[in-house]
Amino acid sequence: MNPVVCTDLYKKYGEKKVLRGFSHVFKAGSVTAVTGPSGCGKTTLVSIIAGLVKPDSGKVENVPERVSAVFQEDRLIEGHDVRSNIRFACGAVDREREMQILSALELENEYRTDVSSLSGGMRRRVAIARALLAPYDLLLLDEPFKGLDETLKAKVVSAVAACAKGKTVIMITHDISECGCFENCDILEMEPIL
Ligand SMILES: Nc1ncnc2c1ncn2[C@@H]1O[C@H](COP(=O)(O)OP(=O)(O)O)[C@@H](O)[C@H]1O
Ligand SMILES: [Mg+2]
Repeated sequence: MNPVVCTDLYKKYGEKKVLRGFSHVFKAGSVTAVTGPSGCGKTTLVSIIAGLVKPDSGKVENVPERVSAVFQEDRLIEGHDVRSNIRFACGAVDREREMQILSALELENEYRTDVSSLSGGMRRRVAIARALLAPYDLLLLDEPFKGLDETLKAKVVSAVAACAKGKTVIMITHDISECGCFENCDILEMEPIL
């Protein structure tokens, strides 16, 4: 397992320079929590690593073939139930593991519920379940626990930590107390755009 290496990444939108020579080695097999003020380029960075946004220059190396993600928005398929949302993204999944993860995320009773009728917090948890059930070697999490109420949040963070144990995880967060739930967690603070 190799670390994901970002070297001298530059990205601007119009005249707005978002990444200006960003370099970092993301440790393999452990969690890196990325923090920084709103608008500093965290989502842009993760999108570049995911291959969804092309940097203006610089490179990203060692991104494994199997990448799974929780995006900043839930990106669920509306009008379809939780089961279909998972199947559509993950293909065949182990039914037992699926139920294990759904119950860890308190979604076991929503398996056949249309995601369009779920609450914001439930939808978030569906997005998380889907990401955890897809086979991956790199997990990208963009503010995954945002909008979850505090009691449930602790449970969800532990479930993610248990599932992602030993995997390379890049997790954007504003709450570094979440890091305490992960066995190995480095913190990377991104600078504000001046
Ligand atoms: N597709 C885009 N087009 C134009 N500006 C963008 C686009 N994506 C992001 N930006 C701008 O780039 C800056 C960084 O955005 P983002 O990476 O989403 O930051 P963060 O995730 O840290 O809040 C923000 O000022 C945002 O408005
Ligand atoms: Mg963002």
